[in-house]
Amino acid sequence: MTGRIPKGFIDDVVARTDIIDLIDAKVPLKKAGKNYQACCPFHNEKSPSFSVSPEKQFYHCFGCGAHGNAISFLMEYEQLEFVEAIEELARLHSIDVPREDNGTGKQKKYPTVSREQKQSDYELMELAAKFFQHNLKHDQNSKAVIDYLKNRNLSGEICQRYGIGYAPDSWDSILKSIGKTKAQQQQLLDLKVLNQNDSGRTYDFFRKRVMFPIRDKRGRVVGFGGRVIDDGTPKYLNSPETRIFHKGNELYGFYQAKQANQNLERVLIVEGYMDVVSLAQQGISYAVAALGTATTPEHMQLLFRSTRQVICCYDGDRAGRDAAWRALENAMPHLKDGVDLRFTFLPDGEDPDTMVQKEGKEAFEVRLGEAKPLLDYFFEHFVNALDITSDAGKSALLSQAKPLIEVVPSDYYKEALLAKLARLIGRDADKIKLANRSPIAEVKRQQTEFQITPMRRAIGLLLQHPNLAKEVPFIPALANAEMPGFATFIAIQKLILDEPEIKQSVLLERFRSQKEYSFLARLFSWEHQIDDENLIQEFAETFKSLQDSYLEKRLEALLIKGKTGQLDKQEQIEYVALMSALKS
Ligand code: UTP
Ligand code: MN
Repeated sequence: MTGRIPKGFIDDVVARTDIIDLIDAKVPLKKAGKNYQACCPFHNEKSPSFSVSPEKQFYHCFGCGAHGNAISFLMEYEQLEFVEAIEELARLHSIDVPREDNGTGKQKKYPTVSREQKQSDYELMELAAKFFQHNLKHDQNSKAVIDYLKNRNLSGEICQRYGIGYAPDSWDSILKSIGKTKAQQQQLLDLKVLNQNDSGRTYDFFRKRVMFPIRDKRGRVVGFGGRVIDDGTPKYLNSPETRIFHKGNELYGFYQAKQANQNLERVLIVEGYMDVVSLAQQGISYAVAALGTATTPEHMQLLFRSTRQVICCYDGDRAGRDAAWRALENAMPHLKDGVDLRFTFLPDGEDPDTMVQKEGKEAFEVRLGEAKPLLDYFFEHFVNALDITSDAGKSALLSQAKPLIEVVPSDYYKEALLAKLARLIGRDADKIKLANRSPIAEVKRQQTEFQITPMRRAIGLLLQHPNLAKEVPFIPALANAEMPGFATFIAIQKLILDEPEIKQSVLLERFRSQKEYSFLARLFSWEHQIDDENLIQEFAETFKSLQDSYLEKRLEALLIKGKTGQLDKQEQIEYVALMSALKS
């Protein structure tokens, strides 16, 4: 089932959820007046500016501007997709997510996947992993494969911990053992454990390879990497992206690192599967690898949320240096106060696997202890490439370093980077003008610039107090009035009049996929300071002033037209109506 989730269900699951309970379970909240507060989970802070309103069922951070309802919270905090967030809420209430039949029968690139489908996918992948593991011991090639692993100094215990297996030298072993029904075959094809050739023949994707199951952060098998045991190519074959496998989000070994370390004090980023496993073999159980791609911003965000120190460990060659710099670029927008990012480069010809085997755990950890702090590596990179004694070099440094520094959210790091940049180019730090490109600074700026105009006031009040909808006349014709925002006002009012019982948070949720959503969300968190008893009057006055300003404009247009030409019958009627409306 890949159809859309019916709107009514989304409404229902939002309405059933108490955002206070939901957030409190993850970020303990304290009562403060009529709201609850905590230190914001979305940025680093020492005094709480994250506020959750039980009345609006909405959270808002005055520090970084994060805001939203229960769905938004799960999307942001748990890094879920919209549909996954709905599924999670449904799970909390023990209800199933219904799907509309979308009737197209066509598959989108990433069709929305139901919880049942995913559950079943994870189970099948686990089964495939078990199948490969079984074959490590029982295939006819077992001895050669086990010898290979032994030669690489991996113990049975470590192979077990990482679930290492073997895909037999056969075109149909997976197919025969777990692809018995047509439905299972299709599912295995979807998950890319099976492949299909042009003539429609189905066969095992991985053959004659040592198999490394890739687990997501919750430990579910989402993909595989398979290594040849001879000189075949490609050396590693990886699962392509599937509906449950998105390479940019997953880190090989992250789950095992968390399992092995109650407090994950440090994470080491390396390049290969073998590096991760071999380091664990030598007692370094906190290494992870990106999956044949560069380290992404998502990886960095995930790591900075889970640990204090991240060390990137790459080969000293050109490719390793490029990979390290990419990691740095992707880390900058997530550099919070309190995190520690370092870089270390291995001697030529070594990788973490060979290095740790050569020098042992202690020496390797000493090496890690000497890794370059971000600040050193950042400037070294430029100094090596540019002649910063010349004006040309200084100006190149300034123009290349500045955009990277601008996106750093941590004030500390930003200032430290800026100070060092200033020193290198021989200028005062305050003379270097940074654009405020950090996401947090950006929101702050927008917040102070966000003025509550009468139209915004009307919309904001209506959103926050849907019962106000009946206090003003419903004038569909006005939807076409040439006033920015009026169509939105009318759309909200119509929604409320159609469903008078609609809750505030549900009302806002209806606009999520529309371009006005972030604007409306901001008005939703606006604190209007109007007492309950004055609310109706205040709202009616705001509406009246908007309406009058429109009517006046329209009247003036008709007057001008009447002077130069003839008003038709319709316009004459409108003119009279306008006159009387304005008098009332
Ligand atoms: P390496 O070639 O450095 O291999 O690739 P390795 O990890 O040291 O493995 P061993 O020691 O030769 O067994 C590093 C990573 O790049 C990806 C894999 O994720 C690999 O772990 N890679 C490499 C591929 O995806 N495909 C390839 O053909 C090669
Ligand atoms: Mn290697």
